[in-house]
Amino acid sequence: MPGEFRIGVLASGRGSNLQSILDACDDGRIDGRVVVVVSDVAEAYALERARRRGIEAVYHDPGRFRTKLEPEREAALAELLLDREVQLVCMAGFMRVIHEPLLNAFPGRIMNIHPSLLPAFPGLHVQQQALDYGVKIAGCTVHFANGGVDAGPIICQGAVEVAEDDTAETLAARILEVEHQLYPRAIQLFIDGRLRVEGRRVRVQPE
Ligand code: GAR
Repeated sequence: MPGEFRIGVLASGRGSNLQSILDACDDGRIDGRVVVVVSDVAEAYALERARRRGIEAVYHDPGRFRTKLEPEREAALAELLLDREVQLVCMAGFMRVIHEPLLNAFPGRIMNIHPSLLPAFPGLHVQQQALDYGVKIAGCTVHFANGGVDAGPIICQGAVEVAEDDTAETLAARILEVEHQLYPRAIQLFIDGRLRVEGRRVRVQPE
């Protein structure tokens, strides 16, 4: 039985991180439930994953900008999530930067996952950036959102060794496997009330 804690997920694409959250809710690694999935892309497969499980799936028109939502559209999204009594908003491959309307509606209650060891390589095409830079260790980060691009206090990170013959695709695939473990763990730490934010540091309280 999924727990009572109410999670809202924002996703723009295929939704494999959404899937890992849904699976973790099913098998008890997350003591909560996804109550709504919202996408800025009408045909995002993430919406289909939600529908197949009987979870409310909403396409939310982002408005005329490319990298953020129009302020009125973002305010409407905040209303939608508040209306569903969402307690934690998880950005899972949501490719827009969020601003005050969402941040003020959910202070300290919005997480993001990003496929690099932040603060290295925020933004797009990050595995290619990591390969071009020549890093030997890549990885992923779950962090609280703060209005910057893949910024905000870091909750947890996972490392992946770069192989000699890696391409952006092979590296992304191995990082994704780690993402799927990391995000459910971060969410459960939040649900358990174990995350204390002190400036940029997130301290994980003992059990
Ligand atoms: C994931 O690798 C996620 O970390 C990344 O998009 C991918 C979405 O995959 N997010 C970002 O780059 C955010 N800046 P998914 O739709 O299969 O979860």
